Amino acid sequence: MKLLVTGGCGFIGTNFIYHMLAKYPDLSIVNLDKLTYAGNRANLAPLEKKNDGRYSFVRADITDAEAMARILKQHAIEAVVNFAAESHVDRSISDPAPFITTNVNGAQVLLHAAMEAGIQRYVHVSTDEVYGSLSQDDPAFREDTPLAPNSPYSASKASADLIVRSYYKTFGYPAVITRCSNNYGPWQFPEKLIPLMFKLASEDKPLPVYGDGLNVRDWIFVTDHCLGVELALLKGRPGGIYNFGGNAEKTNLDVVQTILRALGKPDDLLTFVSDRPGHDKRYAMDYTLAADELGFAPQYDFETGLAETLAWYQSHRDWISSIESGDYRQFMNDWYGERK
Ligand code: NAD
Ligand code: DAU
Repeated sequence: MKLLVTGGCGFIGTNFIYHMLAKYPDLSIVNLDKLTYAGNRANLAPLEKKNDGRYSFVRADITDAEAMARILKQHAIEAVVNFAAESHVDRSISDPAPFITTNVNGAQVLLHAAMEAGIQRYVHVSTDEVYGSLSQDDPAFREDTPLAPNSPYSASKASADLIVRSYYKTFGYPAVITRCSNNYGPWQFPEKLIPLMFKLASEDKPLPVYGDGLNVRDWIFVTDHCLGVELALLKGRPGGIYNFGGNAEKTNLDVVQTILRALGKPDDLLTFVSDRPGHDKRYAMDYTLAADELGFAPQYDFETGLAETLAWYQSHRDWISSIESGDYRQFMNDWYGERK
């Protein structure tokens, strides 16, 4: 199969490309990425070096309709997985516009080009954040939980989900939507909780925890999310929507304290800062449907996944410094400057 992966130079896309090429010897992948601040082509340098015809990279923007049509045709693409997005909630609060451009307009442009090209396998990668927020006693999100996004990021992702749904209902285009909880693992950009806390703790700097630190996320090791997307691609029902979760609900306080202990750093590095506006209290995923229809089951428990993740960051400190751009430093200074 000839698969187009968009956003493959980001965190999950990188893991997904390695995961799929290792598992399917007959698969070849074209990685299409705009290379925003979050995209790092060097993540996949070993595959480029191999030059075995199974991996290629194209720099392009999913909002560019002409380029999408041309690339799908030129590479004889048979299936598409769309990871490309602006993905950081905090950035969507400081500057929502790029989220609408890529996550809504870009998602529609790519979807439309794939439909026009007659591509019959299409996975749109979405998020649990489209469902909004749970209180402690609420049952976990199911696929029929009403959409109630609270941040510009989650609203842009929910908008794209509705567009994908409409293409199935109106045109019969057999796209599949996946919604996953919080990923962690190698190659995650150090603006997200776990790699950021690793980086700051390693530098003996304060670790900024928003609000009271009691917000809950359901953590999933990234290769388990990759497994879910793989199953959705190969076995997903046309028009299907599938939740994936990691069975690991943790408060942010818990996660940060666990990281401090694992690194042998003192608890007093932990600092409470002013809350993220619109901060969702709790996410939890019911993935019964994915288990029943796709055979999905996460393989990692949080303790094992976190230990592997921290070991990866310990041995890839140069990776963190290599991706720290001026844009990254500016955003971090502005955002955390406002939270003191
Ligand atoms: P990321 O920010 O690490 O990577 C995004 C990638 O998309 C980057 O390589 C970037 O260069 C590329 N990109 C951005 N705009 C583009 C455009 N217009 N055209 C082409 N490429 C573009 O994100 P991630 O954490 O790997 O998330 C990937 C996808 O998974 C996103 O759609 C996100 O909403 C979804 N998701 C993420 C999580 C999570 O915990 N990280 C959980 C559930 C779903
Ligand atoms: O749930 C899936 C989503 O998970 C994905 O769709 C998003 O792309 C991804 O970024 C992630 O969103 P979150 O906002 O949940 O992830 P983040 O790592 O930014 O924050 C996790 C929790 O930690 C959240 O409750 C906010 C808190 N936090 C985060 C940062 C960066 C802090 O307390 N301090 C921080 O400095």
